[in-house]
Amino acid sequence: MAVAELFEPLTLGHGPAMRNRFMLAPLTNQQSEYDGSVSKFDQGWMEQLARSGYALIQTGAATVEASGIAYERQLGIHSDEHLHGLTQIATVIRAGGGLSAVQLHHAGHRASPELGGVPAPASSLTLPGVKALTTDEVERIRDSFIAAARRAELAGFDGVALHGAFGWILSEFMSPLLNDRTDKYGGNTENRARLTIEVIEGIRRECGPDFQIGWRLSVERYGLFLEELREIAAEILDRELIDYLDLALWDSAQIVREGAFSLDPPIGDCVTLPQRRRRAL
Ligand SMILES: Cc1cc2nc3c(=O)[nH]c(=O)nc-3n(C[C@H](O)[C@H](O)[C@H](O)COP(=O)(O)O)c2cc1C
Repeated sequence: MAVAELFEPLTLGHGPAMRNRFMLAPLTNQQSEYDGSVSKFDQGWMEQLARSGYALIQTGAATVEASGIAYERQLGIHSDEHLHGLTQIATVIRAGGGLSAVQLHHAGHRASPELGGVPAPASSLTLPGVKALTTDEVERIRDSFIAAARRAELAGFDGVALHGAFGWILSEFMSPLLNDRTDKYGGNTENRARLTIEVIEGIRRECGPDFQIGWRLSVERYGLFLEELREIAAEILDRELIDYLDLALWDSAQIVREGAFSLDPPIGDCVTLPQRRRRAL
């Protein structure tokens, strides 16, 4: 892509186009109120971002259930009490000419008991003494994601972005290492992807035709193979269920180390960054 094209508008599958190709990555800044409400610090940060020229601004990870919290002073979207502050954020972003999305998050087995979180693993083997979620509980969490998206729409956001990266609940369920379930949410790739797909389908069903959905993935982590993720993403993209796929790497020079797409020979510590970059292409 030529540099000039970065400043061209980009049409998404639903809703308004992006005014350019710059999207702000979701960033948890731990400055919301203790109950997850938007604080004056959140509001001030969003006011600055709204003036920045980004085409699409995502909030940091927002809890879809109080029990799914991972970080102190994390943004919340699990209650109608949060609507007032979220509406202020959506309004300020729109006034700046950008599109807005709330990143929807549940920490799964990494929910923090110190903060009122309830660890919610896909497998009884993940945490000593903590039983896997029952099927009903998985469906409750699925419905909480969908209810949170509806709340985002009511607050005036253009869409939501699903946090499916870094081992949080959606990626936890997809992982063959963290998910040994025998119900419809475990086993083969289709079943492990079911939670994510049902969340996306539910949001499409419950929210309006212009509502935008993004999905964040981290490549090759927690036992997921690139080829499996590719298969799942292909289905979701073929069905035009989402508007954008957000690949979070942490390491921009990361290469595939396992599975069908692994690079051979494997890299060693002696490989320089430029070499790694070339191999990653
Ligand atoms: C302070 C901080 C907060 C972050 N918060 C979130 C978050 O809420 N949600 C998320 O998906 N990623 C979060 N990230 C990850 C970033 O969005 C981004 O993926 C990371 O900085 C690596 O960049 P890359 O994905 O372009 O490789 C955070 C990163 C930092 C440094």
